[in-house]
Amino acid sequence: MKGIILAGGSGTRLYPITEGISKQLMPIYDKPMIFYPLATLMLAGIKDILVITTPEDQASFKKLLKDGSTFGINISYVEQPSPDGLAQAFILGEEFIGDDECAMILGDNIFYGNDFNIMLENARKNAEDGYATIFGNQVRDPERFGIMELDGKKVISVEEKPKKPKSNYAITGLYFYPKGVAAKAKEVKPSARGELEITTLNDMYLQDGVLKAELLGEGFTWFDTGTFESQLDAANMIKTIESNKDKVICCPEQIAYYRGWLTKEELQARADLLKKNSYGQYLQKLVEQTK
Ligand code: G1P
Repeated sequence: MKGIILAGGSGTRLYPITEGISKQLMPIYDKPMIFYPLATLMLAGIKDILVITTPEDQASFKKLLKDGSTFGINISYVEQPSPDGLAQAFILGEEFIGDDECAMILGDNIFYGNDFNIMLENARKNAEDGYATIFGNQVRDPERFGIMELDGKKVISVEEKPKKPKSNYAITGLYFYPKGVAAKAKEVKPSARGELEITTLNDMYLQDGVLKAELLGEGFTWFDTGTFESQLDAANMIKTIESNKDKVICCPEQIAYYRGWLTKEELQARADLLKKNSYGQYLQKLVEQTK
């Protein structure tokens, strides 16, 4: 299975901050924002990852993530010349996806909670069985998101930013699709706002009877960090959890090490590089303890 991180977009909602830097390279507490979605895909066991960026920001992403070997994975890059919608990612990534299943995560989405690995495992298995999976999370302001209407656990409708939402279950920015998603994305017609909407793509899977949902429970935390407030909230929450548990969460190096994608020596090298702060000291602790 392949994975895409969509980290394009002009970030105008965060001007003046994002006039000089891509949103997904900004920090959320102790790591760049893109580390969070990267950790999610890695937690799902995905090693081949495509990062989609604006043409002007690609060099900065390459400087940070390189070819992925820092994390024991393969990272490649593609430019999104203009932000024409989330479903466009699969058209841009067609060659990369090949004849494989594919997950996509938005570069500003943070997921943290219990049993996430089990949900990811379910989604992966669904994709292998020909099903698409979306992840629902209850929100206070459903007009701002794609919304799923449910009958029990069954999805009965999906709508992009509805004026009168049929539920408060937001469709989060993490999607798993079976083989053939690029061909399907090419059938998506632009919406009224001129974008290839991911919700239209999800609706196509729903109409085919092959759309499933995983619901993030009450103890689960999900952030779409696209505003000043949500960025600060996310950073505060990450800081609180990390201080409480004395660990670094959503840590790509840790996932890679536990999965056997990084050797102890490689993790040590990374710990040495970051040793001046709590992130590096945490990696050092991992090196010293038995898995
Ligand atoms: C996008 C999607 C929306 C989804 C959201 C999750 O919205 O269009 O369906 O609920 O991401 O982060 P945007 O953040 O582009 O407004």
